[in-house]
Amino acid sequence: MKKVFAFLFLSAVILFAACAKKQTATASTASTNATSAATYTAEVLPLIQAKCTPCHLPSKGGNKTNFEDYEITKKHAADIVRRIQMEPGQRGFMPAKHDKLSANEITVFKKWLDGNAAEK
Ligand code: HEC
Repeated sequence: MKKVFAFLFLSAVILFAACAKKQTATASTASTNATSAATYTAEVLPLIQAKCTPCHLPSKGGNKTNFEDYEITKKHAADIVRRIQMEPGQRGFMPAKHDKLSANEITVFKKWLDGNAAEK
């Protein structure tokens, strides 16, 4: 009888361990998915407001291409990604007269472009 209980207890432990493992695997997949999409409204526009100001923001008096407008920004998505990956001092580098964006910030624009430059 003792052996039976030991066997049941062991099975329960193994089963529990297997379930716990599965759950963490699912959780990590979910978080990768959450970070793999970037949209204009949620991720890109706040970055533009912080980093491309005032030049590309008419509301701030900027007179360059209007990146507060989704349709216009979308048309320039590939050019934006190309220019922010240049080095300061290279012809065409953006943001002009500022430091290069961080790797994480560049990744946001890239992910946005990869997702067909979605609005939301
Ligand atoms: C200090 C002002 C300034 C800032 C800040 C700035 N830009 Fe620009 N941007 C310009 C000027 C001036 C031009 C036009 C000259 C050129 O094409 O290089 C331009 C042009 C561009 C173009 C080409 C647009 C077109 O109509 O062909 C893109 C794309 C661009 N910028 C992206 C960005 C992005 C993205 C940021 C922010 C991360 C940014 N810029 C920040 C001044 C700025």
